[in-house]
Amino acid sequence: MPYFMGMDISTTSAKALIIDETGKVIAIGSSAQPISQPKPLWSEQNPQDWWDGMVASIKEALAEANLRGEDISAIGLTGQMHGLVILDENGEVLRPSILWNDQRTQQQCDDMTEKIGFSRLIELTGNRALTGFTAPKILWVRDNEPDTYEQCAHILLPKDYIRFMLTGDYATDLAGASGTSLLNVAERQWSSEVLSALEIPESWLPKVHEGTEITGTITHAITELTGLKAGTPVVGGGGDQAAGAVGMGCVSPDKIGVTVGTSGVVFAPLSQYEYEPDGLLHAFCHSVPEQWHFMGVMLSAAGSLQWYRDTIAPDMDYDALLAETQAIPAGSEGLLFMPYLTGERTPHPDPLARGAFIGLTSRHTRAHMTRAVLEGVAFGLKDMFTLIDTVGLPDSYEVRISGGGAKSPIWQQIIADIFGATLVNVNTPEAGAFGAALLAAVSVGAFPDVASACSATITTGERVEPSDNVATYAEIYKKYVRLYPTLKDIFHQLA
Ligand code: XUL
Repeated sequence: MPYFMGMDISTTSAKALIIDETGKVIAIGSSAQPISQPKPLWSEQNPQDWWDGMVASIKEALAEANLRGEDISAIGLTGQMHGLVILDENGEVLRPSILWNDQRTQQQCDDMTEKIGFSRLIELTGNRALTGFTAPKILWVRDNEPDTYEQCAHILLPKDYIRFMLTGDYATDLAGASGTSLLNVAERQWSSEVLSALEIPESWLPKVHEGTEITGTITHAITELTGLKAGTPVVGGGGDQAAGAVGMGCVSPDKIGVTVGTSGVVFAPLSQYEYEPDGLLHAFCHSVPEQWHFMGVMLSAAGSLQWYRDTIAPDMDYDALLAETQAIPAGSEGLLFMPYLTGERTPHPDPLARGAFIGLTSRHTRAHMTRAVLEGVAFGLKDMFTLIDTVGLPDSYEVRISGGGAKSPIWQQIIADIFGATLVNVNTPEAGAFGAALLAAVSVGAFPDVASACSATITTGERVEPSDNVATYAEIYKKYVRLYPTLKDIFHQLA
């Protein structure tokens, strides 16, 4: 029986997952990843840590599955998007990678917007210049570390550094490339107009491929280290959100994906390129050939709850903390939480946005505050859903949900009530790595296309229907949307 491997280099771990041809998960190897915040607004990791972690996870997965390298027919890659890996002409890493959640580049975003023009940049790349994206990071290195910039010969995204170590190729996938601000998203190729305006040589950039296209094969040099077989094909794969959408079966415009991880994402597949004229939503290529997608990303979703638990109730487990909220009515008796703990991206592209509890009284308890955090994150997700609705949701659609934070039935009910929509759970563990493994399976002909791979392997589970709280939340949401515009100036002064 053929097996397929999906590798996911996320911000918190390096994972290798093995599936069989029916989509059954046979093994998962995982190693934790360190992260460093050397200065305020900075967020960095060392590519060598990613590689060491991935080697350990590959070996763990093969051993757990009791398989040898030759049993793996193809490999797909996914991982955190937008991070800048900068290499010299010999492929040596020149500085730590600057990650997706690093916020140091506002000046460079302003410079890019001025050079290319606000509307033209959005038309070409599907997005505003955003601090998390790759292009402003390249300009930041040019402005602040000229010696490093001088030696630059190659730019890669995090998962493509793993690809480089596996295959020796400088290559990326279109979904990942969409998060650089350097891609002509409609044409699915690097934008010569953006590159020349920013004076970034195209020769530095990896070759772009569709998610199901083979980009190279495992080299002899790493077979002993990893246990993988030389010659095994490695496919484009996708950035974590697009590969995760494949893993959730969101590969047609009628399947909207909601993911509650550290960040919170609403993902809407598109059958043609469209963009939101203010660039408040991301418009990216999907990992599925000939598809695109809209996406909203809030930076602290389950991350808000994690911060709250660690700070307010470090000795409680999440289940006990969330159970307390069931006695609290919808709306937490007038208490609202703004989840902008690490700045925000969608719908407020503002690194200086800040978190807040609004409306505290002496009547409020920890349980009220916990519920307000769950509700505040759900309102943030609703903001993105509403924005996608303004550019057009199909007449009928299904909302699929996944991600660690989404496992809580209490939180899922709050999200269903705030969206006023039924949520459908997807039974895929590790949607990103699973989606990458499916893309690998398609590349070697195990399935005719991505949609067939998804329908053959992905099952849906519990449905969460909206409750009587929908009308209450609709009223509270009207107040929530007024908070950010009201507090923006003071946030900026405080920051
Ligand atoms: C997507 C995004 C995050 C990161 C980290 O635009 O910023 O999903 O890829 O997970």
